[in-house]
Amino acid sequence: MSSTSGARRARSNDPKDVATPLLAWFAREQRRLPWREEPRDPYRVWISEVMLQQTRVEVVIPYFERFIARFPALDALAAAPLDAVLALWSGLGYYTRARNLHRAALLQGARAARGQSATLPRTRDALLELPGFGPYTAAAVASLAFGEDVPLVDGNVARVLARLFRLDGDARTRSWAKAAELLPRGRAGAFNEALMELGALVCLPRNPRCQSCPLSQLCEGKDEPDRFPAKKERKPRPLLAWRAVALRRRDGAVLLTRRPEGSLFAGLWDLPAPESVQRLWTTLESRGEVRQALTHREVHVQIFTSAATGRAPKGMRWVAPADLGSVGLSSLATKCLRQARVAGIRLKHSLD
Ligand code: ADE
Repeated sequence: MSSTSGARRARSNDPKDVATPLLAWFAREQRRLPWREEPRDPYRVWISEVMLQQTRVEVVIPYFERFIARFPALDALAAAPLDAVLALWSGLGYYTRARNLHRAALLQGARAARGQSATLPRTRDALLELPGFGPYTAAAVASLAFGEDVPLVDGNVARVLARLFRLDGDARTRSWAKAAELLPRGRAGAFNEALMELGALVCLPRNPRCQSCPLSQLCEGKDEPDRFPAKKERKPRPLLAWRAVALRRRDGAVLLTRRPEGSLFAGLWDLPAPESVQRLWTTLESRGEVRQALTHREVHVQIFTSAATGRAPKGMRWVAPADLGSVGLSSLATKCLRQARVAGIRLKHSLD
């Protein structure tokens, strides 16, 4: 018998054969993270799960800490202007997440009985009704915060399960069925988080640490981890060519415009296109180009600067350098401001 078939033979049909060693490993090895403090606060679980979508734990931690310090509970978030929420999200990317978070908080604030604090619904199905809650987020909050017995799959879980069971084809869809089969009743929260943690710490995309894996004995894909899950073909990203101008007032203020509803980076502040502020400048000076790859697009921005005076047009405002840190700016806008050598701008994380 070859070692491969040996490993396949070792496969078990009892769901507990996965859950038991995995939960024991998780109890020993899990990272201490600010949203994991017991007893779990559903609001913190929700905020962390939304931030962790598409974003690594190390990047999320400081954003999470600042967000919770400013909005410690659902009521505080519901009472805040969207601008303040976007400002705290600046640099984290995928800003629809922040807009939906705010919309959901407003809805729950409005639904709270008079004199009562706003709360989150306690089941996956009720959570799914709120803006920004998809199958993953609803299951994460329901299981981690409220102990509901529901499975979940994110990128890490799909990779773990695709390798464990050699799932080919659409590993995401097939993983949901596997995750449901394996779920230990009454332990869904810990189990779900343990699968994610295993994907983050051991079952890595490249060079998985199979020697440290509590499921290695059962794993059907460990000899060929690169084959599972199958790679998706990446479509080429369409290129957007933008132009942006940093108009500077004599006191150092720079003119920013709010990006319109429905556009990329909607609601965030950005440098305007030269054409939209033509009456404010006479000569433009070129400052080169900034490039940013987003998930579905590539954006190239030609940067210009000019001295300017006058009132800010509608939807725009003059922002003093000292205030740039407290308006919502995408990482792309931050890069453009730096390229234009606007003082007072620091680059945060370039994720979006
Ligand atoms: N990724 C998303 N949510 C997570 C969690 N709760 N634990 C570990 N990784 C995660």
